[in-house]
Amino acid sequence: MDFKRYLITAALPYANGPVHIGHLAGCYLPADIYVRYLRAQKRDVKFVCGSDEHGVPITIRAMKEGITPQDVVDKYNKIIKDSFAGMGISFDIYSRTSNKIHHDTSQAFFTKLYNDGVFEERESEQYYDEQKNVFLADRYIVGTCPVCGNENAYGDQCEKCGSTLSPEQLINPRSALSSAPLVKRMTKHWYFPLDKYEPWLKEWIVEGKKDQWKPNVYGQCKSWIDSGLQPRAMTRDSNWGVPVPLPGAEGKVLYVWFDAPIGYISATKELTSQWADYWCKEDTKLVHFIGKDNIVFHCIIFPAMLKAHGGFVLPESVPANEFLNIEGEKVSTSRNWAVWVDEYVKDFPDQQDVLRYVLCANAPETKDNDFTWKDFQDRVNNELSAVLGNFENRAFVLMHKLCKGRVPALHAAVMNDMDRALIGDIKNAKTKVEYCLENYKFRDGLYEVIDLARKGNKYLQENAPWSLAKTPELQTENQQRIDICLHLCLQLNANLAILLNPFLPFTANKMCKKMKVVERMLDWENAGRIDLLKTNYPLLPPELLFRKIEDTEVAAQMEKLKNNLVKSTAAKMENTTEPAKIEAAPETPAKKAEITYDDFAKIDLRVGTILKAEKVEKADKLLKLELDMGTETRIVVSGIAMHFKPEDIIGKQVTVVANLAPRKMRGIESNGMILMAQNADGRLIFASPLETADNGSEVK
Ligand code: 2FM
Ligand code: ZN
Repeated sequence: MDFKRYLITAALPYANGPVHIGHLAGCYLPADIYVRYLRAQKRDVKFVCGSDEHGVPITIRAMKEGITPQDVVDKYNKIIKDSFAGMGISFDIYSRTSNKIHHDTSQAFFTKLYNDGVFEERESEQYYDEQKNVFLADRYIVGTCPVCGNENAYGDQCEKCGSTLSPEQLINPRSALSSAPLVKRMTKHWYFPLDKYEPWLKEWIVEGKKDQWKPNVYGQCKSWIDSGLQPRAMTRDSNWGVPVPLPGAEGKVLYVWFDAPIGYISATKELTSQWADYWCKEDTKLVHFIGKDNIVFHCIIFPAMLKAHGGFVLPESVPANEFLNIEGEKVSTSRNWAVWVDEYVKDFPDQQDVLRYVLCANAPETKDNDFTWKDFQDRVNNELSAVLGNFENRAFVLMHKLCKGRVPALHAAVMNDMDRALIGDIKNAKTKVEYCLENYKFRDGLYEVIDLARKGNKYLQENAPWSLAKTPELQTENQQRIDICLHLCLQLNANLAILLNPFLPFTANKMCKKMKVVERMLDWENAGRIDLLKTNYPLLPPELLFRKIEDTEVAAQMEKLKNNLVKSTAAKMENTTEPAKIEAAPETPAKKAEITYDDFAKIDLRVGTILKAEKVEKADKLLKLELDMGTETRIVVSGIAMHFKPEDIIGKQVTVVANLAPRKMRGIESNGMILMAQNADGRLIFASPLETADNGSEVK
């Protein structure tokens, strides 16, 4: 199909916490790259997003902080919006689901389905907290997991063993919000009969999208559909959200996953009076950029809602990414294990593009990936700066030195095979990057751009214009070679700016300024051309495009990560698809199965004092400890480096598992293990006795 318009959406982030770089890598950055590419192609495109301001996490947050839900969303909407703007995410609109236009749009959508008899009304008993006077969403009921005995399993899932649960299955269920015993009350809700859409979904996705959608997206949809679809309640008991527009439905709101995707429609309405063209005309290409935790909602539930309503286009593609871990560990907003975008923007002013580079070059497109500050530094210094920055700089320096600061002539008649090959490379790069972007392979696309710069460096090296300039007796001939070489390098540089623009727009802009060309040069149709800069045109003096990332900056960020983890987590909120972790519910780990005294007696527990502590090279988490065990000193390698500075733990007493078999870690033999308590917020604590014990004494 030849599409006339493009409607690109990026998942509406919950306004209950800031966004982290995993959000950027998962959804906003690829969406922005795609949109910038479409715009450079002069296609008719709208890019919509906004804050998702409803749902239980927001009300809980408000309750805990003693503020209103509106206060919560006002605060985070601003932080999130500024973070995106700071990183150059170029939405045409960043709206909010608390806006009137959204309430009207989602209510009208619900009413249409209601009037068409789509919903099934069902009464059921649901848990109620009589102290807080609220019905409790499944996530806000905690109890003992019937499968593994975890005492703090949630009403929808046990995080310990991964079992999917319902509140009824929990043993001793209780409210996570208060100590009130749970009671059940009857309540009525409107269910969307997803089961009735199963045949259509099978045809549309399982048969229709097999070779079109990314395997991770297709696979998740297929397994969901194959396991059988059930009716789902589209309303909730709450006083925060879009009120259910029916008589007698006081205290009921639309389910957040019913109203949020309709937010894409309301945002488009807010943006343009032509909104219906984008939503209702068949020749619109609708693409949802999301993270993998949103796949089912965007590929199954929302399309079924659109289909039931009628008159709307369906998503052509949903190129969801996997997750980005940080320093080898999953992002945890409750433990504050994340790199927050608002903080990055403050810590690295004017360095948006280097983060965009690293997040795209290492994007979790096919599997979860890891972000480390060391890798950030390496990629910026050794790839982006060393290859692309270096090429651009060399071309400018040499042109100023050998061609009087002006674009030299091409002397096309005397070009050689090397020159022609480079021209071929420039033209091919356009085709390759275009293919990657059209197919949502952003990482590969960026690689191709850098590869073109690499080819430029190689060409420059092989032609060595600096040495040609050293033989004055061959001056005319050599000057021709110098001119051709630098002419082509500068044209290649102009091409790099065009190809780079969707990925690193700030840099592309800087490059234009240095070449003294207007931004229009960045139009995609100009890629592949080698006449972008006119002969004899004066360019600005050289100036480095990128600065190096220093070791001290990496160290400071690592320190920050560790400190954040240690600090209280109260300031930051969960910001995941599922409601936030309930801080009221202590996350004590499950009790372990009973053991006999004989089992216990096998463990030789002894007291030791830390004499020395030092970091283990190339292992961020490990400390090498030397322990005074009374009759001997021992080396123990312990994974506590993220929690303590070596100098802070000297002299502390610890309990040591003294008869643990020796184990080599990073080439160091570890003889035993030290014991520590882990608090609910993930902090490690020396749970040592108040009095000092003799080193080596037995702990019984
Ligand atoms: O996962 C999330 O952050 C959700 N707020 C995404 C909603 S996307 C869309 F449906 F609005
Ligand atoms: Zn369990």
